[in-house]
Amino acid sequence: MRTIYVDNAATTQVDEEVIEAMLPYMRSKYGNASSLHLFGREAYQGLEKARKQVADLLNASTKEIIFTSGGTESDNLAIKGIAHKLKEKGKHIITSNIEHPAVIEACQALASQGFEITYLPVDPYGIIDIDILRTSIKKETILISIMHGNNEIGTIEPIQEISEIAHEKEIIFHTDAVQTVGKIPLDMKKMNIDLLSISAHKIYGPKGVGALFKKEGVILEPLIHGGGHEQGFRSGTENVVGTVGLGKAAELSRSRMLEDSKKMSIMRDNLIEKVTTEIEESYLNGHPKFRLPNNAHFRFSGIEGESLLLSLDEKGIAASTGSACSSKKLLPSHVLMALGLNEVQAHGSLRISLGRNSEETDIEYIHNSIKEMIVRLREISPLWKKQKI
Ligand SMILES: Cc1ncc(COP(=O)(O)O)c(C=O)c1O
Repeated sequence: MRTIYVDNAATTQVDEEVIEAMLPYMRSKYGNASSLHLFGREAYQGLEKARKQVADLLNASTKEIIFTSGGTESDNLAIKGIAHKLKEKGKHIITSNIEHPAVIEACQALASQGFEITYLPVDPYGIIDIDILRTSIKKETILISIMHGNNEIGTIEPIQEISEIAHEKEIIFHTDAVQTVGKIPLDMKKMNIDLLSISAHKIYGPKGVGALFKKEGVILEPLIHGGGHEQGFRSGTENVVGTVGLGKAAELSRSRMLEDSKKMSIMRDNLIEKVTTEIEESYLNGHPKFRLPNNAHFRFSGIEGESLLLSLDEKGIAASTGSACSSKKLLPSHVLMALGLNEVQAHGSLRISLGRNSEETDIEYIHNSIKEMIVRLREISPLWKKQKI
């Protein structure tokens, strides 16, 4: 059976070149990067090369890259690290109600410790309300954390404008850029961002490794104490193999980004056009223009997203109803609810997230399969029949 993987927002296939780069660090270059002997020096060099590759992708300096265990840890380190460092200055944090759980839950943990959190609403396309952001700022506000690209609906937030507002008031700005790194150019020298989270497995690297960009001069409290690795901000013997993989993935992303993003956005637009014009009562979730180049997120009346997902799985298509983290819970997505959808509408959604290996012929097959399955599912859908009476 033909198989098509279009769940690249959940994770990506590790690139062959990334695997090749990692292998020597599993086989022969297995030293501890803190050891002074040859083996240690080899591991250290691998680690520092990766730091340069990640820094180059972000146009940052190597001193500004802290390696972590992934996007979740980077988000936690940024948010809790600033909160604990600046709690004497104030205990108010602003975020949005469409963030990834790594941000929302980190904020909730802080709320239970006496911090006040403001969750900004979004418009029906998922863009945060800048006016409400401005009026939410207080003298106690120490951090604004707004994601760059939404992992479910693909909407891109105006982070440059938000960071300017934050800095006018001398507030630290963090962005979770896990979904945009490697797809949209990010320039830390120009963008005036204080903290930015990235994850290797979304950019064709291994799972369980990521980084936090921390602008020079920004100080935070570490979450993990120990041997003082990563300038004391993240102790623990470094994951050299994974980090080398992240570095190679970053290098490949940098060289391929424009070409890959252009190719994916053409296929994305083609799919969106086909689905929304040829399938009755189908809608695009998220912003039509400000969206991730690889994301097409649909809503179909009278359909259960999970049933559609399983029907597509039978056709060899691996897609998703939303984020990988919440898709097993069968709860309506907090992101879709924030757009103003009701529970039934939120349950009728499907996310197709393309990858650098997606092909135009895949789009045809995906579209035809969705169309066929929607007809079949609507025939047995009480929701659809009720609507049509
Ligand atoms: C926007 C966003 N932030 C954070 C994460 C968490 O990253 P990781 O899986 O590396 O912990 C994800 C992964 O789904 C994500 O999409």
